[in-house]
Amino acid sequence: EKGTYPYYMLKEIDEQPATMRRIISEYTDETGTVVIEEPLLQSLLTSDRIYIVACGTSNNAGWASKQIIEGLANIPVEIHLSSEFGYNMPLLSEKPFFIYLTQSGETADSRQVLVKTNKLGYPSLTVTNVASSTLSREASYTMLLHAGPEIAVASTKAYTAQIAALTVLAKAVGEAKNIPAAEEFDLTKELGIAANAMDIMIAEKTMIEGIAEEYLATTRNAFYIGRSEDYYVSMEVALKLKEISYIQAEGFAAGELKHGTIALVEEGTPVIGIITEAVTAPHTRGNLREVESRGAHTLVIASEELSKKGDQIILPIVHQFLRPLVSVIPGQLIAYYATLLRGYDVDKPRNLAKSVTVE
Ligand code: M6R
Repeated sequence: EKGTYPYYMLKEIDEQPATMRRIISEYTDETGTVVIEEPLLQSLLTSDRIYIVACGTSNNAGWASKQIIEGLANIPVEIHLSSEFGYNMPLLSEKPFFIYLTQSGETADSRQVLVKTNKLGYPSLTVTNVASSTLSREASYTMLLHAGPEIAVASTKAYTAQIAALTVLAKAVGEAKNIPAAEEFDLTKELGIAANAMDIMIAEKTMIEGIAEEYLATTRNAFYIGRSEDYYVSMEVALKLKEISYIQAEGFAAGELKHGTIALVEEGTPVIGIITEAVTAPHTRGNLREVESRGAHTLVIASEELSKKGDQIILPIVHQFLRPLVSVIPGQLIAYYATLLRGYDVDKPRNLAKSVTVE
């Protein structure tokens, strides 16, 4: 039930910090040790490559989790679109392990790949919000998101829950392999800090509503740009914006703008930069200056430690691996408020269904 909320999407955005805390309690024991099913752990310990297969927002969550898994568990990770992978399968490693990310657990595009990898005898994990779902039943293992039902078509809490669940997985595998980065990573503490940072961002609703009004009330198109993790989050928040507000929105690798997309920038085109990483921050800022000099209406979402005077949205500092959990929130809220302003149904966008059960 959405209770006092006007839309499920807003309720689900608000539920994200609590979901982080639930994931901590579901996946740690009394001593604070991170626990995943033993057979799942053993299977991952013998695999030489992880293939994440997913659609839409779940695919974007895969991208945001790649560095976490590679950094903590030291296993190479590839991310694939389900609708492409099944019919155009790449050359696989010797010991592949498949992770199906699917909020609903019913997505047909993802299921057709699972059917194929099952036939080939490869181990698989479904990370899902729905315990009795098809992909959960048909995969070797399941990890639940514990996010509570997600009703709005635009996925929000499943995105952050998927990243958190894969962080749990990476920590457990990395610890079992004695990887120093995993041993040093205090999951309970860092996810707790991220949950608090999410609360801080969520409390900025009024400010973000004002930004949506200033930048997106009438525009035809909009761009999000960033590098590495900030690029992955850009893809996710652009998807959010386009699917519910119908603004033509794209998330771009900031460095790629000048290789073509910059031609689309006109007087007043909103270009939103996400900046959370020290090494790439000056470059993304440079790209923002380039578009600004061509008339773009630029907006900066930056981590506190990298923020500069004039930046509009400041993100609290969290562990480097967990930045997407926080940097995604302004974009979720921007999409929500832009849609309200433009007079559309936030929870039920045209042409879309909550679970897509046809290929
Ligand atoms: O249930 P799934 O996670 O498999 O769904 C995948 C996509 O259909 C879904 O994330 C879709 O992109 C959302 N509407 C995005 O907000």
